[in-house]
Amino acid sequence: MIAQTAPMGWNSWNTFGENISDQLIRETADAMVEQGYRDAGYEYLVIDDCWSLRERDAEGKLVADPAKFPHGMKAVADYVHSKGLKFGMYSCAGIRTCAGYPSSYDHEFVDAQTFADWGVDFLKYDFCNFPDSADCKTRYATMSMALKATGREILFSACNWGREDPWSWMRSIGVQMYRSTGDIQDNFISFTSILRSQIPNFCMSGNFCFNDIDMLTVGMYGRGNVAFGNACTDSDYRTQFALWALFSAPLMLGGDIRNMNDFCKQLVLNRNLIRINQDIESRNPYQVFDGKAQYGAPDWWNNADHTALTFIKHMSDGEFAIGYFNLGEKAGEVSFTFADAGLPYGSGYGFELTDAFTGEKLGVKRDYFNPVVPPHDCAVYLARIARV
Ligand code: GAL
Repeated sequence: MIAQTAPMGWNSWNTFGENISDQLIRETADAMVEQGYRDAGYEYLVIDDCWSLRERDAEGKLVADPAKFPHGMKAVADYVHSKGLKFGMYSCAGIRTCAGYPSSYDHEFVDAQTFADWGVDFLKYDFCNFPDSADCKTRYATMSMALKATGREILFSACNWGREDPWSWMRSIGVQMYRSTGDIQDNFISFTSILRSQIPNFCMSGNFCFNDIDMLTVGMYGRGNVAFGNACTDSDYRTQFALWALFSAPLMLGGDIRNMNDFCKQLVLNRNLIRINQDIESRNPYQVFDGKAQYGAPDWWNNADHTALTFIKHMSDGEFAIGYFNLGEKAGEVSFTFADAGLPYGSGYGFELTDAFTGEKLGVKRDYFNPVVPPHDCAVYLARIARV
């Protein structure tokens, strides 16, 4: 049984692109253990595109590039496993990967066996150079079957960028997470548009099969492989991480975790935010605003000025998470009444709030609690219903 809650880990693409190596993976594995990422739940260490030679070997198998991985891929997997981590790799449903390396179209079974032989626990499966004549759903189902045929438990991370409404069929074909959007960039517009594009679909994301809105960019500050536009600020990173947490999206770190600054490290290791993301029920939050609650389709693209967003998420054991987001350019109060979320003033109940970032206890609030939130930033609370 894998992916009961959203998968967590690290992926090489956002920061390193093609600049990957045995040494980088070993150093990252060391950092995941020594700096507390593994113990916080970040379990999968995933090598993305550009790890192989440009051609298969005489037997038709994929070959790790000896210049980047001189000891072969099994040795890398063994090292990752020796650290108590799980090992992930990358291939693609098309003829070539996005960066032009051989990929698994018509080689699904041989490649799945190669990955299993190396000790791979996670396969990210991309969608570049997919033949026009081929059927997307069938080909993802084929790789899913090929992974099962190995007998090894391998998490299937399908990355078809949202083509053919993946939320409606990826669960059925045995996928644990499906990328629903194009590639994230390390800027505010990119990650907020990615998140909001999926609000109507998150109700179909849940335990064992999660909507994947891409690797995080926390800690990149405009460096690396997906640096376009105005690089994210600390506020942007708080907002990004809190949104991913509230929506129970997979938490795949994309920064260089060997060298994260303290702010970003504390952020992605925040126990409360991870607990919100990993809640066993993995429910999507609902949006509350303007005197009504929205359970799926958001109103924010009908209202360009509507930059204050509020979400409430039911969690296990009577707990809630409440998020107040200010996606505007000026500080301001972000508000909703608890009645609009389902807890009326007249009920005699309010919410007892704890600041998820700081752990500060704020007591019981009745009717509303409207924090002032800096631009691009957020406030997130753990809440319990309490008598007032
Ligand atoms: C893209 C994918 C990215 C990354 C890249 C590698 O298609 O969405 O996450 O894997 O390919 O070339």
